Amino acid sequence: MNNTSIAGMKRTHMCGNLRKSDVGNIVTVNGWVDRVRDNGGVLFLLIRDRSGIIQCTFDKSVNKDLFDIAFTCRTEFVVAIKGELVARDEAAINKKMPTGEVEVIAQDIRILTRAETTPFEIDDTKEVNDQIRLKYRYLDLRRPSMQRNMMLRHRVTQVARNYFDEQGFIEIETPMLTKSTPEGARDYLVPSRVHAGKFYALPQSPQQYKQLLMLAGMDRYIQITRCFRDEDLRADRQPEFTQIDLEMSFVEQDDVIAVNEGFLQRVFKEVLNVDIALPLPRMTWQDAMDKYGSDKPDTRFGFEICDISDIAANCSFKVFKDTVAGGGSVRLINCNGYADKFPRKEIDKLGEFVKTYRAKGLAWLKLAQDGSMTSSFAKFLSEEEIEQIKSRANAKENDLLFVVADADWEVAATALGALRCELAKRLDLAKKDDFKLLWVTDFPQFEYSEEEDRLVAKHHPFTAPMDEDIQLLDTDPKKVRAKAYDIILNGCELGGGSIRIHDPELQTKMFRTLGFTEEKAQEQFGHLITAFSYGAPPHGGLAYGLDRLCMLLAGLDSIRDVIAFPKVQNASDLMMHCPDVVEQKQLDDLSIAVTKIETEEE
Ligand code: AMO
Ligand code: AMP
Repeated sequence: MNNTSIAGMKRTHMCGNLRKSDVGNIVTVNGWVDRVRDNGGVLFLLIRDRSGIIQCTFDKSVNKDLFDIAFTCRTEFVVAIKGELVARDEAAINKKMPTGEVEVIAQDIRILTRAETTPFEIDDTKEVNDQIRLKYRYLDLRRPSMQRNMMLRHRVTQVARNYFDEQGFIEIETPMLTKSTPEGARDYLVPSRVHAGKFYALPQSPQQYKQLLMLAGMDRYIQITRCFRDEDLRADRQPEFTQIDLEMSFVEQDDVIAVNEGFLQRVFKEVLNVDIALPLPRMTWQDAMDKYGSDKPDTRFGFEICDISDIAANCSFKVFKDTVAGGGSVRLINCNGYADKFPRKEIDKLGEFVKTYRAKGLAWLKLAQDGSMTSSFAKFLSEEEIEQIKSRANAKENDLLFVVADADWEVAATALGALRCELAKRLDLAKKDDFKLLWVTDFPQFEYSEEEDRLVAKHHPFTAPMDEDIQLLDTDPKKVRAKAYDIILNGCELGGGSIRIHDPELQTKMFRTLGFTEEKAQEQFGHLITAFSYGAPPHGGLAYGLDRLCMLLAGLDSIRDVIAFPKVQNASDLMMHCPDVVEQKQLDDLSIAVTKIETEEE
């Protein structure tokens, strides 16, 4: 048996840290063989660890035995190599490698483990199918880019812990086994063995606990914690994800915002060395919807929405005129300066695109560089009406106007909001290293749920309404605005929070407005209602999606790349092979009968 122990060959340096200043030292490195280069008689093993890669050189004419061992090494073998660190000849310097000015002239090598050929190369420049990456995630994580992502995430959590500690927040853990609550996403349930037929739920967030901690006098709470939501997955959604969750007592909205702006400034500085100017811009929800057609506006580019309902109301184009007459809205965006980039065929495709956002059509007007005009609707309008629209949109040569008319202003706004982002994507106008942070405030308290045919809380039922809107709770609840705020980064909802209701009477009223009967409210939230009767401080807080924050800081498109072991689209873990069936005995213990099992094809 060969010696595969690390004894006597423990590393003195990390591979990626070796520099010219270390030249002359005898060093030992431990790591994986990243590449083998055979120059006939001289063999180069590139050794990789978390810090980077170093070249180790074996010369057959100097030490044949050593060379022969090195010669058996394949990529991903784990080795320990000892030798003298020397400066490379001028001609051999590799400017692309941080360690490219030096190399280790090997004096000893030990193979610690051999490796089979991996299903894909550990190489950032090679495209690998996502399914394969996730099945062999431990190999995928060996890639330098993934290692950097994990280190960035670590840095962000450290900054959060340090910053909030300095601000007087204390970290408190809250239970993972908790109570199912009906508001929000679908719960992940955990059956109880001790209590047959009863279930815990995994927390969608620690919302109730953190409020109870404020009632408990903890004053300022933070937790970096896992949350679970059984919803459809997207690039920025996982069934389990992590929040930086916080709550503060005796505060108003501006206090929560100020503390969090300090945090964001610190994260950008410490992680990316980017300076963020404070205070951050703020926009009301209504302005965000009107101008950007989204409650998470991407402000890295223009194409802002403008309302032409007043012009449309009296025009001769039936679609526009009837829409306004019926109480609807006609809105447009000006894709200014890019008309030449969108031939007719592309415009038609964009018409299909807005339909996925429930728009019924997309009217357009194009001004060519020579000033000539083509349009899907101009023929129905008088010259004066066209001039009015052009003037409202500030339209010049090479501009392209897109118009959506809809009975529901929110449909028109949302469709154009999605279109402006799609245009920016096609034109590559939104740069990943251009960080645009802003707060969206003054959210509506409620939204109408078609599914349930009632008002539901837009944020959650504990969010306080604006003081001046409380009186509308009885008369016109749809108009009530909440003391809720979201922090937006580059069109992504990074975090959200609110000032909470601390007055039990107002909370009871809120439950009533949400359609809870007295009994139902007691059943679901009785513990909270009781707690609030013993003296609750005014309080509020916020939670960030840590995964989203890391994704955007790292310039990535999916939160999967900043999560060590993520789930795929259908919520399964391809590496662990779960969810999976369990033994009948386990089910019996839990008093559970399975009525349907997914077949392989599903
Ligand atoms: P909210 O539901 O807005 O608020 O969640 C806070 C933040 O968590 C992130 N997030 C997600 N990230 C990845 N995958 C998901 N499925 C997912 N769902 C949410 C988002 C979001 O902004 N308790 C409240 C906070 C509060 O009021 O203090 C809450 O959970 O970035
Ligand atoms: P038509 O009269 O059907 O040829 O429509 C003329 C133009 O109006 C086409 O470009 C349609 O896409 C557009 N259009 C139809 N309905 C709407 C709508 N609700 N909003 C915006 N444009 C529309």
